[in-house]
Amino acid sequence: MSDLQELHQRIASCPDCDLCRTRTNAVPGEGPPDAEILFVGEGPGFYEDQQSRPFVGPAGKFLEELLASIGLRRDQVFITNVVKCRPPNNRDPLPGEIEACRKYLERQIELIRPKVIVSLGRYSLAWFSPGDKISKAHGQVQVKDGIYFIPMYHPAAALHAGNMRKVIEEDFKKIPAVIDRAREAPPEQAAPEPEPEQIRLF
Ligand code: URA
Repeated sequence: MSDLQELHQRIASCPDCDLCRTRTNAVPGEGPPDAEILFVGEGPGFYEDQQSRPFVGPAGKFLEELLASIGLRRDQVFITNVVKCRPPNNRDPLPGEIEACRKYLERQIELIRPKVIVSLGRYSLAWFSPGDKISKAHGQVQVKDGIYFIPMYHPAAALHAGNMRKVIEEDFKKIPAVIDRAREAPPEQAAPEPEPEQIRLF
């Protein structure tokens, strides 16, 4: 069994927060273990909790349309969430739930080593970039720990507010160029810490 499969087994029986009491199934995420692009949503909803698969409800249908609009199928990308278990009645995840689940997304990123990460929604943006406002950050390409990072609005936002659809579609159009750029060369890393010898004064 691969490390990623093992991690997903751990998630399936995770007892680390109260969401384990109300979930039907944990939803670790799915996609190729070496996917170039990782989408990170907020948390499973009703359908995801039933099927143990991310983004299989109405928001997932729109996500698949968005992927198709840039020539991608969902089986070519990795899709997961900040919290792996459904918050009751689809309420927002609580800070303690997000923290309890943090290690799982961190490990998924380590194992998958995506070239590009796309956050979907406020909670996912906050996981990567606490304090950033989605109204300002959406569609802006950043670099986080040597990985291209593009915050986007959550696809469900378009289901609730029609004018969001166009905004999300326009933001998605930026993804292919970022993948191309990442394939050519990883983004500039922060300057490495100098070796102790280099900072000796004498
Ligand atoms: N919304 C999310 O954030 N994640 C899912 O998996 C489904 C809906």
